[in-house]
Amino acid sequence: MRAADTVADLHAQLSELRARCPRIGFVPTMGNLHQGHLSLIAKARDAGADAIVVSIFVNPLQFGPKEDFAAYPRTIEDDRRELERMNVDVVFIPDVDEMYPGGQASAAHVEVPQLSQTLCGRFRPGHFTGVATVVCKLFNMVQPDLAVFGEKDYQQLVVIRRMTRDFCLPVEIVGSPTFREPDGVAMSSRNRYLSEEERGIAPTLFRLLQVTADKIRSGATDLSALEREAMTQLQTAGFRPDYFAVRDAETLEQPTSDTAELRILAAAWLGKARLIDNVGVSRTA
Ligand code: PAF
Repeated sequence: MRAADTVADLHAQLSELRARCPRIGFVPTMGNLHQGHLSLIAKARDAGADAIVVSIFVNPLQFGPKEDFAAYPRTIEDDRRELERMNVDVVFIPDVDEMYPGGQASAAHVEVPQLSQTLCGRFRPGHFTGVATVVCKLFNMVQPDLAVFGEKDYQQLVVIRRMTRDFCLPVEIVGSPTFREPDGVAMSSRNRYLSEEERGIAPTLFRLLQVTADKIRSGATDLSALEREAMTQLQTAGFRPDYFAVRDAETLEQPTSDTAELRILAAAWLGKARLIDNVGVSRTA
């Protein structure tokens, strides 16, 4: 595996790689890799990538002033070993100055309005602008043919699809199913913030998403009532929920009675960890 920490270095590695491999797959990460990330690399290969580039960059632009940027787990040496084991071709590990050479405050931003302001965007102002900006920059640096993003961050996936479409970026965006622990908890670097007791409560979030999906499949139509009921159950279980919402899977807007593809999304605090999760449900006649 080759490693690059500057854009110039990355381009040198990529021009050599491109001569041998027609289809470059890209998996952007913030490091602290777990099986969820490794499943994204496998997905890139399934989707037809001949070579894989992974980036590791904890992007300050997507963290709010009171969020966990400083505390976010950084495990570069372990990550490099895992990527080597997964036969990744190039790992790109830039620092903040390499990504934002003119400084963060005055850096050009990519904004996807509306999609970025709903759901998690209401509770994390600026977060999706930070994500869209860094992903757009990484796409320009790596120039991949395809890029893989986990469905666990479903709103992020929708924002990136929209940015890619609106800017005509020549990158195929591939969504990859959420990788779960045996008890259903979605894998996340932030799960390590949970105490043992909180970890015991955590599966309730996915269970409630599944229960709600089943009710919709069985014909429930009062979606607001389902949302209220799930919020109450989350509180009773010990969560501090930000939202539990049934939305149009593509636009993330409120569904109408005709919307066939729904996504049920939730974000809830458990102690110091903010957990997010979602499931899809089809309402085809
Ligand atoms: O999902 C993540 O890990 C990050 O939001 C991403 C896509 C790497 C951008 O920093």
